[in-house]
Amino acid sequence: METVMRNFFLFLSKNRGLTKVAKRYGLKFGAARFVAGETIELASEAIRQLNNKGLDVTIDYLGEFVDNAAEANEMADNSIKAIEAIGRERLQSQLSLKMTSMGLDISDALVMNNMRRILEAAKKNDVFVTIDMEDYSRCGKTIEIFKKLREEYDNIGTVIQAYLYRTEEDIEDLNKYSPNLRLVKGAYKESPQVAFPEKKDVDENFKKIIKMHLLNGNYTAVATHDDAIIEYTKQLVEEHNIPLDQFEFQMLFGIRPERQLELVNEGYKMRVYVPYGNDWYGYFMRRLAERPANVAFVLKGVMKK
Ligand code: FDA
Repeated sequence: METVMRNFFLFLSKNRGLTKVAKRYGLKFGAARFVAGETIELASEAIRQLNNKGLDVTIDYLGEFVDNAAEANEMADNSIKAIEAIGRERLQSQLSLKMTSMGLDISDALVMNNMRRILEAAKKNDVFVTIDMEDYSRCGKTIEIFKKLREEYDNIGTVIQAYLYRTEEDIEDLNKYSPNLRLVKGAYKESPQVAFPEKKDVDENFKKIIKMHLLNGNYTAVATHDDAIIEYTKQLVEEHNIPLDQFEFQMLFGIRPERQLELVNEGYKMRVYVPYGNDWYGYFMRRLAERPANVAFVLKGVMKK
C-alpha cells in the first residue's frame, strides 16, 4: 500500500497543469506545514525564528518545470534577492537551488550565466550555495555543472543520493574537489536499472557513502529524519575522532522539529531546509510521497475546513 501511495504522489508531483493551478491559489491542503510562506519576507521571519532556537538554515526559492529563459532568469533574480536578504538581515542561512529552475532543460549557457550571477552575489554576502539533486536524468549534468563551478568558487556544494548505483563512484570521483556534500536517500521515482529498489539497500548505501565522505576528510551534511542513520553517524564520528565542525545534520522545515532541537541541544550542528515561494505543489507532493503519516496530517487539515 505504501509503495502505491508513494508512486501516486510522485506521479502527481510531475503534473505541470496542477503545478500551474496551485501557484494561483496560495498554500493549500496543509502545505504551509512544509513551506515557510510565499514571500521572502515570510521566509526571513521563519529563518529568524529558527536561528533564535540555535538552528541554521538553507533557504530554497521553489520553482519547477522552468522551460523558458525569462522564467529561469527570474528564478535566479529571486535567489539573488534571497541572498541579499540573508546578508542584509544577518540571517544564519545558506541557499539551495535546483538546476532545472536555472534553465538546465533549456541551455548550458543559461544555467552557467545564472549560476555565476548567484555565486557572485553569494560570495559578496558570505552565503554558501548548494545545488539540489533532481531526478536521475539530470544527475550527470548537474554533477558536471558543479565541477565547473567548484573550480571557480569555494562557496558551492551539491547533493548526492544514496539510492543511485552510481553514487559510490561519484563520491570517489568528486573527492579531488574536496567537496562540501549533502548526502540524502533520494526523493524521486527511479527505475531499478539505476537505483536500489529496496529501502534496506538504500540505507546500507547511505551509511557507506557517509563513511567514505567523512573519512576522505570532507565536509558532510547528513540530511535525514531517520534516527538509525543519525545514530550511525554519531557513532562513526566518535569512533574516528571526526571533529564537530566537519559535519552537520539537516532536516526539512516542518518535519521532526522537536528532534531538530534535541540534536542542537546535544551539541550538533543542525540545518533546516526552508522552502518558500508560490510554486509549492511539486515539493509538497514529494513530501507526501515520503510518509503516509504526512498524508493523514493533510487529510485531517482538509476535514477541519
Ligand atoms: P525515510 O523517509 O526513509 O524515513 C526514515 C525514518 O525516519 C522513518 O521510518 C521514521 O522513523 C523517521 N521519520 C521520517 N519522517 C518522520 C516524521 N515526519 N516524523 C517522525 N519520524 C519520521 N532528495 C533529493 O533527491 N534531492 C535533494 O536535493 C534533497 N535535498 C534534501 C535536503 C534535506 C535537508 C533533506 C532532509 C532531504 C532532502 N532530500 C533530497 C530528500 C531525501 O532524499 C529523502 O527523500 C527524505 O529526506 C526522506 O528520507 P529520510 O532520510 O528522512 O528517511
